[in-house]
Amino acid sequence: MTEPIRSIAVLGTGTMGRGIAQLAVQRGLEARLYDVSSTQLERAVADVTAQLGKLVAKGKLTEAEQSACLGRLSSSIDLGRACRDADVVVEAAPESMDLKVKLFTEVRELAPGHALLGSNTSSLSITELGQRCAVPERTIGLHFFNPPPVMPLLEIVRGLGTSEASVERALGLAQQLGKEPIVVRDFPGFATSRLGVVLGAEAMRMLEAGVASAQDIDRAMELGYRHPMGPLKLTDLVGLDVRLAILEHLHSELGEQFRPPAILR
Ligand code: CAA
Repeated sequence: MTEPIRSIAVLGTGTMGRGIAQLAVQRGLEARLYDVSSTQLERAVADVTAQLGKLVAKGKLTEAEQSACLGRLSSSIDLGRACRDADVVVEAAPESMDLKVKLFTEVRELAPGHALLGSNTSSLSITELGQRCAVPERTIGLHFFNPPPVMPLLEIVRGLGTSEASVERALGLAQQLGKEPIVVRDFPGFATSRLGVVLGAEAMRMLEAGVASAQDIDRAMELGYRHPMGPLKLTDLVGLDVRLAILEHLHSELGEQFRPPAILR
């Protein structure tokens, strides 16, 4: 049995950072958001508040539960303050290895010595990240899916240096957050992005070739294969910049089938 996680620091307040913080407070954890811009932090807190408000309007959350959730949410532009009590630090920064290494190298000095350093990267190497920030045993992939409060999967990525104890703690976190975990080896694109981006990229190539309209390519997969949304709509949900960064990385690591389509560039 591992100790329950009480608090989580979320670094980066884009779609994923906001969603992970929302999920955490809804599941009873303290969540502290960090970003370099206070305007961005204010927007993120307002967005989480609005998302919780929608759940109240739908009768899925009471007003008392909403204010309890908001009581567990805080934000800071000071990385030390954001991380100092964290049992888990999750970075949801842009897909740049150098940026993630820089963040975790600072976090290593600021967070408690037991804190798990989780990366929400979609494809970058957890082994490299762990080695370059010099805490490989506590560095792990914690890959959430958009929208994080809704999607059931947590993909846990074990780097070469990730300790068994860290994997156990990540599995405990998944349980606390109500997610179904899978544990995968550190390989470019893991078990999800590698398959997911292929569909999106092929749909774009089909659009370029004039096979059908964007709407009909999406409808084909929604109605014919029961995907909840078509591959082009899904690319918009994830973000074109995010998908391009994943494809560029997989193209360099795994080869030609991942070359980003011209229309995406
Ligand atoms: N917080 C809490 N609940 C939320 C929410 C949020 N931010 N956003 C949506 N929901 C809930 C809604 O309340 C609703 O709940 P009920 O059914 O209980 O009422 C439910 O989610 C569905 O929402 P909607 O009715 O608004 O819309 P929908 O039925 O069209 O579903 C969707 C929206 C969940 C996004 C669905 O279309 C879907 O599953 N799409 C595929 C998403 C996907 O594949 N995500 C993974 C992308 S890849 C990735 O993220 C990883 C990466 O590395 C890039």
